[in-house]
Amino acid sequence: MDYEIDTRCIHGEGHKYEDGNNSISYPIYQTASFSHLTPGHNPNGFDYSRESNPTRAYLEETVSSLEHAVDTIAFASGMAAIATAFEYFKPGDHIILGEDLYGGVVRLIKQICEKNGYETEYVDTTDVDKIKAAIKENTKGIYFESPTNPMMRITNIQAAAKIAHEAGAILIVDNTFMTPVYQNPILEGADIVVHSGTKYLSGHNDTVCGFLCVASKELSEKFRLYAKTTGATLGPFECWLCLRGLKTLAIRMERHKSNAEAVVVYLKGKEEVEEIYYAGTGIISFTVNSVDTALKLLRNIKLITFAESLGGTESLLTYPTVQTHPDVPEEQKLKLGITDRLLRLSVGIENPKDIIADLEGAFHG
Ligand SMILES: Cc1ncc(COP(=O)(O)O)c(C=O)c1O
Repeated sequence: MDYEIDTRCIHGEGHKYEDGNNSISYPIYQTASFSHLTPGHNPNGFDYSRESNPTRAYLEETVSSLEHAVDTIAFASGMAAIATAFEYFKPGDHIILGEDLYGGVVRLIKQICEKNGYETEYVDTTDVDKIKAAIKENTKGIYFESPTNPMMRITNIQAAAKIAHEAGAILIVDNTFMTPVYQNPILEGADIVVHSGTKYLSGHNDTVCGFLCVASKELSEKFRLYAKTTGATLGPFECWLCLRGLKTLAIRMERHKSNAEAVVVYLKGKEEVEEIYYAGTGIISFTVNSVDTALKLLRNIKLITFAESLGGTESLLTYPTVQTHPDVPEEQKLKLGITDRLLRLSVGIENPKDIIADLEGAFHG
């Protein structure tokens, strides 16, 4: 069905679920295994929940609908989805990486991908010419976030996809910050989209999950094999929580964005704030004039919580240098601007006046 995005958040592709009980909400199939009629014969195609489960299948179909993907696999975390995406590569493959990545991905590259013999190279992908210049004979993949966490840097996805495909490589884009409400990388030419579903997709700071969305049947078969073999697929209850969260994704994003825009205006008027990094979603990074000011804000906020993560209904203030990016080398952090004066605010959907009043109280506390 060709529904609009806000309708697809609620109804996916519009397939009605029929189990004879007429439930509106999709059921939680809290089962490890499924009975077989005769050897090798299971009419609904479900055997064992590591491999597949109806609640997960319904969630995966909904996320595929949102991301215009051929298939989606739901994982136990964003990192599990990203680690599985990197299973695509072989020893000796060269992978171009955006230079501003979530710290957990930097750790994955350093601790796991290097051990697996991948040749990785950080490139400023915001400059398309730099991506082109970095292409080598053995380049098999390009991976970046757009916008990036936490510096909100934007890469031209269409241009990057063209460069990747001309080189015989695939493009993987982390779409956690924009969400499918504001950006569909597959429609721009990306082969794989990854998500920390923990963030906006689930949206309530209560679920850890991740998604790997693919643009072809071939990639789907490859990753379904890896997912069922390595086994970090999402449990039925978390699938249901995410399905429930997704129903309000589009409307939440509207409010996150309008709240964030109001906070940006407020921050612009504060003399303690030196730089603001904002890419049009619900997340704002900003630097303040001293470490003392940064620590004061973290100490004095009352409504907003000093915590990691983002994209939920509750506003969270994060100290990236310590919380989300401790594994990024100091030199790289400084180059990107991830200093001890940088804060990242995930603006929730509370009343914007209360969020701003809390920040004002914290500045003066
Ligand atoms: C942009 C981005 N990608 C991936 C991840 C990893 O996701 P998860 O924490 O769900 O494993 C995060 C986590 O903060 C993130 O911010």
